[in-house]
Amino acid sequence: MSSYKVGVIGGDGIGPEVVAEAIKVVEAVGVSLDTTEYDLGADRYVRTGEVLPDPVLDELRGHDAILLGAVGPPVGSTAVPSGALERGLLLRLRFELDLYVNMRPFTGVPGALAPDCDFVVIRENTEGTYAGEGGFLRKGTPYEVATQGSVNTRHGVERCARFAFDLAATRPRHQLTLVHKTNVLTFAGDLWQRTVDEVSAEFPSVIRDYNHVDATCIYLVENPGRYDVIVTDNLFGDIITDLAGAIAGGIGYAASANLNPDRTGPSLFEPVHGAAHDIAGTGKANPAAAIRSAALMLDFLGESSAAAKVTHAVTEFITSRPDPTLSTAAIGDAIAERL
Ligand code: NAI
Ligand code: MG
Repeated sequence: MSSYKVGVIGGDGIGPEVVAEAIKVVEAVGVSLDTTEYDLGADRYVRTGEVLPDPVLDELRGHDAILLGAVGPPVGSTAVPSGALERGLLLRLRFELDLYVNMRPFTGVPGALAPDCDFVVIRENTEGTYAGEGGFLRKGTPYEVATQGSVNTRHGVERCARFAFDLAATRPRHQLTLVHKTNVLTFAGDLWQRTVDEVSAEFPSVIRDYNHVDATCIYLVENPGRYDVIVTDNLFGDIITDLAGAIAGGIGYAASANLNPDRTGPSLFEPVHGAAHDIAGTGKANPAAAIRSAALMLDFLGESSAAAKVTHAVTEFITSRPDPTLSTAAIGDAIAERL
């Protein structure tokens, strides 16, 4: 049996609590993990002033995968400067490890607004308005100027589009929707549209569609069944996946994979939710999103049968309409017992 070297960043708040359940479930399905814990996040920053020291980043590069809980201080706290962890840790890991695809699958749970939805959002993860292009002029004066450009490279868009087409070609419906705002963002949108059109020639079996991002917000609520695979840029992907998570059952279920499909380094798997300090230590955190993220990790590591078993166990657990007062650890146990 293979064993995988996994770097674990529990992080802050409920992060370590949900990651512990994800590891419990992976072990229950019979995949052996050689884990190393990394103390990173708001707590570490407050204690030491460090966000992601270079030697830690280098060590992380040596793993097969990284599991992350969530990082961040309580909302409203001023202990960490705004953006320090987002840019210095989360985005830095995405850029340094070239995690250029952010894959977020959404399958509805009973009681959700869209219990039957089943689609995947492929969000470009290293470019767009998140690339860090821009700056201030005359900051702090009445005439100050702030710009935040959207960086879109042919290379970056093409590799993301190809990943999305590849995925669509393996799904039963073979359907891919580009989501953008090509009517207004005529430079970036044009590059995206042309690139997707060209890549589509390699995938004749995939049916292609296009929606504007604002209309997508309507369709996700009124008719999410129209979507199979969505491909979109970094900012639009960030926003529509929060909406998608809300219609599919809520933040406790939404999983995500930050992938380096070229496998030049480890990929990173994390729930979409944050550190939820309001419920940390109470046992109220739902570990399903972290467990589903671990299933995405297993799949990407080539353990597709173990991944399918975990995903199935989570779905079965959710559809059994469990006691809503079950604790974080009890949910982890109940899912592990189904394996
Ligand atoms: P949040 O996702 O932590 O919490 C939003 C609401 O959802 C809260 O009411 C929380 O109790 C609930 N919630 C979240 N996860 C849950 C779970 N697994 N089970 C049950 N309820 C859950 O977002 P918020 O409050 O905006 O951020 C808190 C901290 O987390 C901030 O410092 C923020 O920057 C950080 N954050 C980190 C992320 C990451 O590490 N990728 C992502 C989002 C936020
Ligand atoms: Mg977000």
